[in-house]
Amino acid sequence: MLLIFTAIFLFGFLIGWVGRPCVDNFPMKPQTIGSKLLNEMQAENMRVYLRNWTRFPHLAGTEKNLQLAQQIQTQWKNWGLDSVELVHYDVLLSYPNKNNPNYISIIDENGNSIFNTSFFEPLPPGYENVEDHITPFNAYSPAGVPMGDLVYVNYARTEDFFQLERELGINCTGKIVIARYGKVFRGNKVKNAMKAGAKGVIFFSDPADYCAPGVKPYPDGWNLPGSGVQRGNVLNLNGAGDPLTPGFPANEYAFRLDEGIGLPKIPVHPIGYNDAEVLLRNMGGISAPDEWKGQMNISYNIGPGFKNSYSSSKVRMNVYTRNEVRRIYNVIGKIRGALEPDRYVILGGHRDAWGFGGIDPMSGAVVVHEAVRSFTKLMEEGWKPRRTIIFASWDAEEFGLLGSTEWAEDNAKLLQERGVAYINADSAIEGNYTLRVDCSPLLYQLVYTLTKKIPSPDDGYEGKSLYQSWYEKDPWTEYKEAPRIRKLGSGSDFEAYFQRLGITSGRARYTKNRRTAKFSNYPVYHSAYETFEIVERFYDPTFKKILTVAQIRGGLVYEIADSIIIPFDCRDYADALTNYANVIYEQAKQHETQLNKYQVSFDSLFSAVHNFTRIATDFHKRLEKIDVTDPLAVRIINDQLMLLERSFIHHMGLPGRPFYRHIIYAPSAHNKYAGESFPGIYDALFDIASAADEHKAWQEVKEQIAIASFTVQASAGTLEEV
Ligand SMILES: *[C@@H]1O[C@H](CO)[C@@H](O)[C@H](O)[C@H]1NC(C)=O
Ligand SMILES: *[C@@H]1O[C@H](CO)[C@@H](O)[C@H](O)[C@H]1NC(C)=O
Ligand SMILES: *[C@@H]1O[C@H](CO)[C@@H](O)[C@H](O)[C@H]1NC(C)=O
Ligand SMILES: *[C@@H]1O[C@H](CO)[C@@H](O)[C@H](O)[C@H]1NC(C)=O
Ligand SMILES: *[C@@H]1O[C@H](CO)[C@@H](O)[C@H](O)[C@H]1NC(C)=O
Ligand SMILES: *[C@@H]1O[C@H](CO)[C@@H](O)[C@H](O)[C@H]1NC(C)=O
Ligand SMILES: [Zn+2]
Repeated sequence: MLLIFTAIFLFGFLIGWVGRPCVDNFPMKPQTIGSKLLNEMQAENMRVYLRNWTRFPHLAGTEKNLQLAQQIQTQWKNWGLDSVELVHYDVLLSYPNKNNPNYISIIDENGNSIFNTSFFEPLPPGYENVEDHITPFNAYSPAGVPMGDLVYVNYARTEDFFQLERELGINCTGKIVIARYGKVFRGNKVKNAMKAGAKGVIFFSDPADYCAPGVKPYPDGWNLPGSGVQRGNVLNLNGAGDPLTPGFPANEYAFRLDEGIGLPKIPVHPIGYNDAEVLLRNMGGISAPDEWKGQMNISYNIGPGFKNSYSSSKVRMNVYTRNEVRRIYNVIGKIRGALEPDRYVILGGHRDAWGFGGIDPMSGAVVVHEAVRSFTKLMEEGWKPRRTIIFASWDAEEFGLLGSTEWAEDNAKLLQERGVAYINADSAIEGNYTLRVDCSPLLYQLVYTLTKKIPSPDDGYEGKSLYQSWYEKDPWTEYKEAPRIRKLGSGSDFEAYFQRLGITSGRARYTKNRRTAKFSNYPVYHSAYETFEIVERFYDPTFKKILTVAQIRGGLVYEIADSIIIPFDCRDYADALTNYANVIYEQAKQHETQLNKYQVSFDSLFSAVHNFTRIATDFHKRLEKIDVTDPLAVRIINDQLMLLERSFIHHMGLPGRPFYRHIIYAPSAHNKYAGESFPGIYDALFDIASAADEHKAWQEVKEQIAIASFTVQASAGTLEEV
């Protein structure tokens, strides 16, 4: 019965799609092939891959992850991709010492340890006998045994240290800071702690951030258990990739720096909330502000140090982690484009995991796999894409986006000439509520068009489109009447492609309800409890949300690779630029006196954005009238579309961040995960009220406004009639 219903639904869906009137913004082929691709993808296949790929850990630099790369390579070859290569690099990785695991102790006045945090995470049911699950650690922490007093620094964000230093009068110099995970990327936290003079950092997951109310800890629910620990790297690479070979591929003749860039200089170690409660329970000093209090049964004091009978006890970190150059492997598969083989559309996602990788990355890696299978099915029927499609299974993403960045560096000359788009495929789910998309404005219309063709997998939305459920659950009310789409920041493998090379990029996944879920990431993120079972039992029992994500990622790749005219709409870039200009101007206006005193004007920026809008509108009118039978005319307009994103790249990069070169977007300097618009101006304005040299600070703002204005105007120039 269900089968018949599904068949009728799919049939109706197909008719609706094939038969839809040609009202698209851009000329596209009849959609029979696109709908075939989406219908080919099967939830059940992805369940089988996920089961197969999450039996063991697949840590970068280990035999198990090489074996999985070889298995994927064989499978892609057998399915019929035109070529499939393993591409290796030798990069700096980091591992704890197997015979000497990291931990943290409380040391009494006689020098005896009276408490140790746990050496390992208890493995989840069904995996007790797995031997090579890595113990908790923060990758690239230097080894060291600092001892001292603790200071609780909330999330260790920039604003938390401002509050500590400016309002609470606490000096972290020579202290070990203890910070809760959440809100911002952990590497930014370590950087802030180093700047504040700390000699060590302890991270913990507070139940306030890693447990949803009313949900049980894994395995009975999807919350983080008290013994669970989040791993993760603590680098500040700013887009450099392998710390030893910034700017160049880590190949056999690469020059390697003596001291890698972005490496933390103080020991860092993560613990779970059971252990954190013991460390924090006896802390003295002033009471933390209410917003700093989590949900453990303690009073949350800031310190420094312990109180009462513990007042002469200290904390000692015992960190024995070591950095090591090891070989990593990307799997690169290709379908050669039939008409424009020199134009590349990339679908890439990572394969390496901290542990079993049930969510991160395997829920996304299986999507790439099913996309490859589905595309090769079309090929069996004689289809070839217009442009070349590249599928990538990246290695060592968890260690700092290493595999994807090294490959981007290796192929930078080709990619900057030929890269049309990069679609990222990390974790497909971080919740089961609705869709989340982060992408270049050039992709907005394509994402909307596509989501209108994909059925919603949400309960209560039977027979409705994904667009409809997404719009109702996450509308973009303050900006447009459409579902919300976010800015690209970083934190996954699209970084080098978008932020460094200026290739139009996007990512999509299923997410939690932002309005009600207070927790950061998802509770078991990067712990040993990211299993196949947590996905199957709690996130996506039917795998239909993962299937939806596969259809979006695969559908985007298909449309970009096979449409005659690249389906980018530059008018949305004009709207976005207008919005970002307004936002940054509002921010600057908070310093009205200084704007006048230093004659800081945003007129040039508004003028450039205005010009961009006019030129983009004209460009789009010409695009709609183009003779698609004229190959030269098509190629000219497609080159303009492909190269628009590239025109926002400035070869010297942003101040102090040479690998973040996009003038419109960058990962936030205070949170690598988040995207910032007009980052040059934003950073120049940041905390400007406390600048040591006010004149110099405002000169920097003026320079950054000029750079942004020129870039927007010059980019508009690329859309003018040739
Ligand atoms: C996964 O599937 C492959 C191919 O079917 C098989 O060779 C391999 O043994 C399986 N691995 C595990 C861990 O189940
Ligand atoms: C902590 O671990 C160290 C090293 O294994 C050990 O010597 C010490 O006795 C332990 N302390 C406690 C309280 O278990
Ligand atoms: C913090 O203390 C260190 C030495 O303990 C001192 O050098 C530094 O100036 C202090 N910082 C502030 C902001 O007072
Ligand atoms: C919280 O801690 C206090 C003091 O340690 C204890 O008396 C109380 O029972 C605890 N409450 C809960 C809910 O565990
Ligand atoms: C999945 O959705 C249900 C219904 O909204 C919700 O109760 C549950 O918490 C969700 N599961 C996860 C892992 O978010
Ligand atoms: C915008 O275009 C006008 C008219 O062509 C031109 O005068 C102005 O300089 C342009 N703005 C910028 C920032 O270049
Ligand atoms: Zn990931």
